[in-house]
Amino acid sequence: MHNPRSIKNPWEDHYTQKARKDHFPARSVFKLQEIQQKVNLIQSGNSVLDLGCSPGSWLMLAATLTGPAGNVVGIDLKPVTVTLPSHVRVFIADMLALPDEISEAIGREFHVVISDMAPSTTGSKSVDATRSFELCQAALTTAQNRLLPGGAFVCKIFQGEDSEAFIRQIKSMFNKHRIFKPQSSRKASREIYIIGLNKR
Ligand SMILES: C[S@@+](CC[C@H](N)C(=O)[O-])C[C@H]1O[C@@H](n2cnc3c(N)ncnc32)[C@H](O)[C@@H]1O
Repeated sequence: MHNPRSIKNPWEDHYTQKARKDHFPARSVFKLQEIQQKVNLIQSGNSVLDLGCSPGSWLMLAATLTGPAGNVVGIDLKPVTVTLPSHVRVFIADMLALPDEISEAIGREFHVVISDMAPSTTGSKSVDATRSFELCQAALTTAQNRLLPGGAFVCKIFQGEDSEAFIRQIKSMFNKHRIFKPQSSRKASREIYIIGLNKR
């Protein structure tokens, strides 16, 4: 019988190991770190809204960058798996059907909205791309309604038929935009991050 712990996860890489060593629950933290280095996204004292925040790596990094004077809010279908400082609040909810009371409690006037939301994959490329696009649209509507003028938006999108139209929407809402594939994003993944800066 194999000891399951001795079977190496084929997805495990340098970033997975580094995340574990640095006590982050997911390697995705390095993608946000790269975005931070590229565009200086989150400042001390900022209000940050993190959509699709579980298991909590982006929340941990965002909370460190804002410091205790900031305000970080996370939303996900699933709970986070880490202990977070008191300036972070997490809501368990579906961004495609946000209940009114949670929508109210989250608040408005964020400096930064970040979305790393991804649907559970079905195996069908077109179904997965459609679901991912729905999540991107929900994130963009949230940014439209809750970002302060001058605010910034980051959204994961899977490159496909709809991504060009999404980029056009970002261009019309923000003064500057970037399209970014972090080094830490797996080469085989079609994911890219669209960054909108300086909301009109
Ligand atoms: C790649 S993970 C996010 C990882 C996170 N950025 C981190 O660093 O820990 C994607 C998340 O999107 C969430 N998600 C997918 N659909 C969602 C929805 N409709 N509403 C809220 N969250 C959703 C999933 O539950 C999952 O936890």
